[in-house]
Amino acid sequence: MSTHSENQRITVTTLARMRREGEKIVCLTAYDAGFARMADAAGVDVILVGDSLGMVVQGCESTIGVTMDDMVYHTRLAARGRSHALLMADLPFLSCPDTAQALHNAGRLMQEGGADMVKLEGGAAQADVVARLSMNGIPVCAHLGLRPQFVHKLGGYRVQGREADIAALLREDAHVLEQAGADALLLECVPATLAQQITQAAGIPVIGIGAGATCDGQILVIHDVLGITPGRAPRFARNFMPGHDSIDGAIRAYATAVRDGSFPTADEAF
Ligand code: KIV
Repeated sequence: MSTHSENQRITVTTLARMRREGEKIVCLTAYDAGFARMADAAGVDVILVGDSLGMVVQGCESTIGVTMDDMVYHTRLAARGRSHALLMADLPFLSCPDTAQALHNAGRLMQEGGADMVKLEGGAAQADVVARLSMNGIPVCAHLGLRPQFVHKLGGYRVQGREADIAALLREDAHVLEQAGADALLLECVPATLAQQITQAAGIPVIGIGAGATCDGQILVIHDVLGITPGRAPRFARNFMPGHDSIDGAIRAYATAVRDGSFPTADEAF
């Protein structure tokens, strides 16, 4: 069970405290009020309105087509469903070409959508954007490793950081973005040993997906947790429906597995 009191809204301060105290942070995507309500009631700490909605809700091949209006709309829906969880929303493809537009778009996610925090994909090159958002009171989670918005530059959805030079760049990105004011990092599809190094070196919470068990928290796409992702699920995902007779049961099983460290296993990491 989460140790937060019934009426307490989770904030970035809560996440920092959880990291300090070694309490795992449970994160899950949701894109509308109904699923946000279920995730919240099941004790999920952070609900992400991810631009993965382009794939799992809109049926597209990638997240590239997701617009700011899409993100604001789905964030507003999810905001109506959550009570306690921190609501994080993605800044989609091309929404942060410079600091002014990033500020405008992050402001929309918070003011129109009701987000508490924004997530953006990018390395050290985004440090000025992170700093600008941070100095304007916008909590930021920086998404490193496999960045789906960069799929065309990366040549596909591949594990990032297997090579020593790329691993060193990722460690540097994490450091620079923390110094710029990021409140959390998200590592997607990086080797577990690299994720462990980044997590140990960081002073802020590190959330992993396909990044091994040593991160401060875990995130999955809700469709993967419920086993309704079309096609083959990624190696790092787990379907929690078997053995449970309800969506609520599956989400609670996911939350328990993150908190007790039984998810992810070594086979669910790289
Ligand atoms: O868009 C998304 O849902 C994400 C998660 C996969 C971390 O970024």
